[in-house]
Amino acid sequence: MPETANEKKKVIFSAIQPSGTITLGNYLGALQNWVKLQDDYNCIYAVADLHTITVRQDPKAFRQNILDAYALFIACGIDPEKSPFFIQSHVHTHAELAWILNCYTQFGELSRMTQFKDKSQKHADNINAGLFTYPSLMAADILLYQTDLVPIGIDQKQHLELTRNVAERFNSIYGSTFKIPEAYIGQTGAKVMSLQDPTKKMSKSDENVNAWVAILDKPDVIMKKFKRAVTDSDAKVCVGEGKDGINNLIGIMSAVTGKTADEITLEFEGRGYGDFKTAVGEAVIEKVRPIQERFGQLIKNKDYLTEQYRKSAEFALKISQRTLDKVMKKIGYVAK
Ligand code: TRP
Repeated sequence: MPETANEKKKVIFSAIQPSGTITLGNYLGALQNWVKLQDDYNCIYAVADLHTITVRQDPKAFRQNILDAYALFIACGIDPEKSPFFIQSHVHTHAELAWILNCYTQFGELSRMTQFKDKSQKHADNINAGLFTYPSLMAADILLYQTDLVPIGIDQKQHLELTRNVAERFNSIYGSTFKIPEAYIGQTGAKVMSLQDPTKKMSKSDENVNAWVAILDKPDVIMKKFKRAVTDSDAKVCVGEGKDGINNLIGIMSAVTGKTADEITLEFEGRGYGDFKTAVGEAVIEKVRPIQERFGQLIKNKDYLTEQYRKSAEFALKISQRTLDKVMKKIGYVAK
């Protein structure tokens, strides 16, 4: 019995919001990693569309963004036959458990979330209750699947910490109910910085569109953005202090080609930044070309997408319902 338990692969859960464009930063930092993890773990992935309405969405664009994100992730290599990949709003247990967890999460805890503070500043005209309780929904996403590991960026670490605290609190009141998840540390994805201010993370909310590259940007646009990337006056292609721009470009080059920073430095010895920027642009274009082609086919194939997200949602519901049932029974709800 313990033997089979040991052999069982660990469960990984992660989700990304369908808030428009997916950037090169999202891809190299998170998605590419998700794809690799599929071989060694039981991965469950979701498009976190319930989270997205904490910021007001235009219905037509929102619907398109959800479908685009779904198709794009598959184009990047998420295989729903291997790793259930569903749309969060299709699986009702998420909203239900989120409500319950809200009642086990303190106002003070949620008030300390830095993302809440940031977002309420940014959207001062719409500081809604959902924005405040967003971490409870994220905790529900994770805890419903008895998740072992959660691959997340540094910006989501505080939310995972809260998830762990709430799960431990629940377990200590009612006895073991939730697996306590851990952050996935291991081969972390590349941290891609802004091409215009390489001390900041690459973000699509950056007002300067030259600061970020979208996976679906046309090749000439990608090239233009790399050619304009901010560098330094040192004119040597190598990693170094005060060379944030070049460090970032080397990081990107390394993440898309698999070459090490040393190999890249050697290759560009005696060559200028202009050459290097063009080479990085070309490498990125080559990397996204097959993804863009696949995306173009998938987005036209509505039947395939529908079949996949329905099958995945069915699976996710089955697994998550078990946890929700257990939780409700422990709290004292009357069985249906
Ligand atoms: N909040 C995450 C983000 O904005 C997305 C997310 C939702 C998530 N649910 C999750 C990530 C569960 C990991 C696990 O990036």
